[in-house]
Amino acid sequence: MKKKSKEYVCTVCGYRSPVKLGRCPECGSWNSFVEVTEGEESAETATPISITSDKVKLSEARIKTGIEEFDRVLGGGIVEGSIILVGGEPGIGKSTLLLQIASIFAKQGKVIYVSGEESYLQIRMRAKRLGIESKNLYLLIEQDIDLIKNTILKEQPVFVVIDSVQTMFSPHLQGAPGSVTQVRECTRVITDVAKNHGIPVVLVGHVTKGGMIAGPKTIEHLVDGVFYLEGERTDVKRIFRSVKNRFGTTNEAGIFEMQERGLVEAENPMLTFITEEDEFPAGSAITATLEGSLPIFLEVQALATPTYFPIPRRVVSGIDYNRLLLIIAILEKQLHLKLGSFDIYVNTVGGFTTKDRTIDLSVAVTIMSSIFDKRIPNKTVVFGELGLGGEIRPTVGAERKVIQGKRLGFDSFVLSSFFKDKIKANGVNLYFAKNIREVKEIIF
Ligand SMILES: Nc1ncnc2c1ncn2[C@@H]1O[C@H](COP(=O)(O)OP(=O)(O)O)[C@@H](O)[C@H]1O
Ligand SMILES: [Mg+2]
Repeated sequence: MKKKSKEYVCTVCGYRSPVKLGRCPECGSWNSFVEVTEGEESAETATPISITSDKVKLSEARIKTGIEEFDRVLGGGIVEGSIILVGGEPGIGKSTLLLQIASIFAKQGKVIYVSGEESYLQIRMRAKRLGIESKNLYLLIEQDIDLIKNTILKEQPVFVVIDSVQTMFSPHLQGAPGSVTQVRECTRVITDVAKNHGIPVVLVGHVTKGGMIAGPKTIEHLVDGVFYLEGERTDVKRIFRSVKNRFGTTNEAGIFEMQERGLVEAENPMLTFITEEDEFPAGSAITATLEGSLPIFLEVQALATPTYFPIPRRVVSGIDYNRLLLIIAILEKQLHLKLGSFDIYVNTVGGFTTKDRTIDLSVAVTIMSSIFDKRIPNKTVVFGELGLGGEIRPTVGAERKVIQGKRLGFDSFVLSSFFKDKIKANGVNLYFAKNIREVKEIIF
């Protein structure tokens, strides 16, 4: 065995160097290098396994949480020995959701909930509010990942939660908890525990709106699944979404509500993102997106007011800012609307965020509706992607949206003419449009 030479690592980006540098050549940070203390190189070997081997279990064992929406998004439950990351903004409800899940797993055996950011008392109080009284649910208030690992191996729990990965640290690295190297190292140590001992682990990760320094993005490739809990903190609605899933489909979403007793499945998930009103005001439209296999009907609102600024304001919430600029440009070019003299605000109801271009058409019609001060008829759903020439492009799941929409009580749909002979009306009004000019004729 030969002794490894000294190595230094940048605590911000993970760049390695044989000498201690003042400035990192990779990310440009100053004084960010710390020495890596590593043991001796081992001479251990591993055994490759044939792809036809019958010694390996072919289907992964899944443990269901019993929260249907959650299991569905996970792809049927949590896979034994897997490690997943649940990310979200501070205060969105990650700790709440995972405490609930931990208590469900506690029916099957010992569960360890490791917290590096809250006290025993705080978690106990939350558990009391959520009505959780599981003797098998153990709290470990700790941040040292080695100690946590050894405790897990000693206690052999059926399920572990690490809340949050940014508060954990490895004593072998000098960086502060939350730095990229620390977050990665802690994830690596815990992944080891999950994989080699078959214990499913959920890591909690904080994401902040303005992009994060050492956030979940830096460990996405190290874990089996990445899920985000989204929503507006001030609103009760929450979306639990899969971004990466080695054991299931991505882009699935479950809709929850944050209540006093915790996160509960939304009663009517497909209609959660619509204001409950009989008549929508001008500047409001209903559109439908597809989240995995689930069509979600959501309300988009636009407000156009005369501007007092040399450059008009464009403000978005829930949709892509550049997409709004593009839609405004298309409206100006195709319909000769003078939008340069209006401030335009567009947002989705209930904090629903989407990059799905199928909502383009609804953004365009809400802006028109606000400018013309004319309402869009009730029970009407508009969807489709806008091309640069104002044409309406087909998007996936149109038929499913129409079928589901009809079930939910919508009676008119405005969609791309691509579907003209492909979707049958069956008791609803289908308005097929080639371009934004035709849509204007149909609605206004
Ligand atoms: N008494 C309560 N009733 C309803 N919701 C509550 C109550 N107390 C806290 N919450 C909700 O819990 C949220 C905090 O959840 P938490 O799980 O600590 O979030 P995170 O772990 O993502 O930071 C708050 O934003 C609030 O919406
Ligand atoms: Mg928390």
